[in-house]
Amino acid sequence: EKNIINLAIETSCDETSCAVLKNGREVLSNIISSQIEIHRKFGGVVPEVASRKHIENINIIIEKAIKEANISFKDLDIVSVTQGPGLVGALLVGISSAKSIAYGLGIPLIGVNHIKGHICANYIEHKDLKPPFTCLVVSGGHTYLVQAHSYTDYELIGRTRDDAAGEAFDKVARSLGLSYPGGPVIDKLSKEGNKEAIDFPRPFLGDNSYDFSFSGLKTAVLNYLNHMEQKKGEIVVEDVAASFQQAVIEVLVEKSIRLAKEKNSKTIVLAGGVAANSGLRNLFKSRGKEEGINIRYPSPILCTDNAAMIGSCGYFNYIDGQESDLGMTVEPNLEL
Ligand code: KG4
Ligand code: ZN
Repeated sequence: EKNIINLAIETSCDETSCAVLKNGREVLSNIISSQIEIHRKFGGVVPEVASRKHIENINIIIEKAIKEANISFKDLDIVSVTQGPGLVGALLVGISSAKSIAYGLGIPLIGVNHIKGHICANYIEHKDLKPPFTCLVVSGGHTYLVQAHSYTDYELIGRTRDDAAGEAFDKVARSLGLSYPGGPVIDKLSKEGNKEAIDFPRPFLGDNSYDFSFSGLKTAVLNYLNHMEQKKGEIVVEDVAASFQQAVIEVLVEKSIRLAKEKNSKTIVLAGGVAANSGLRNLFKSRGKEEGINIRYPSPILCTDNAAMIGSCGYFNYIDGQESDLGMTVEPNLEL
């Protein structure tokens, strides 16, 4: 069978990224230009600034990806691009570039769902991974429990009712005076803290729910900090970080295990930026061992936003016949 050489573009948030893949699993290049330093001084991503930076960077990043893959534009068979969810202006930059390349070369354009892209990062990391499996997607914008039926069919089972897991990490970090993005900082501090120091609530939402809710937990941390300040008690940042992180990950892990058992899944796959969390990975590994369930996750660089994961998803969409036309446009609120 012929190899499919795929150019993939991701600009949904604050990473300008372009990758070249051979079929769905082999990465020839994956260039990621992060804007984190620019947004850090605002404490979060500023959409208009993100769009402008994407415009400045996109052509450079695309050319770098082509060069590093050691190919030329005429070798491309398809172009994949993130269609949503994400920031409208940011997504538009990637989509416009992808359309012009697809049109110029006369090759298929494939729109990709960013959330499915996160899941597909695992096909790159684990060459033997095949659906079906249970999947937890935890990023800055999304917290989804998913049952994967095929390479393109992902059933949404549970979701957050308020804050996403990564958003909770970022907000709690902010109230602790830590820098953005807060997830990696809390992860690091947690290793030096006592996770049993403070008994924060575990929001399970009843025995049968697969939904999540993290805003109450975030408020509990705020209340704790205010209370300690009022009575002039000592706040041990490491202990707050570790206790908060433990509350989040216990809920994420137990709900995922319960779904995997209900669906008879032998494998749970983690995806999204928060899947880089070391506490989450460790708890999943030990609980997975107890339950006889395999735990798979991508290496950290494939957990956070990158174009290679979009290329993997785009390839499977293409094989499934899901081509987009050139009239395709942004879907900022695209669901799974
Ligand atoms: O997937 P991602 O790069 O972007 C979205 O699609 O949202 O995820 C970014 C999120 C941020 O909220 C960040 O704080 C969180 O992932 N994150 C982490 C870790 N690394 C990144 N959260 C917890 N622990 C980490 N090690
Ligand atoms: Zn993402």
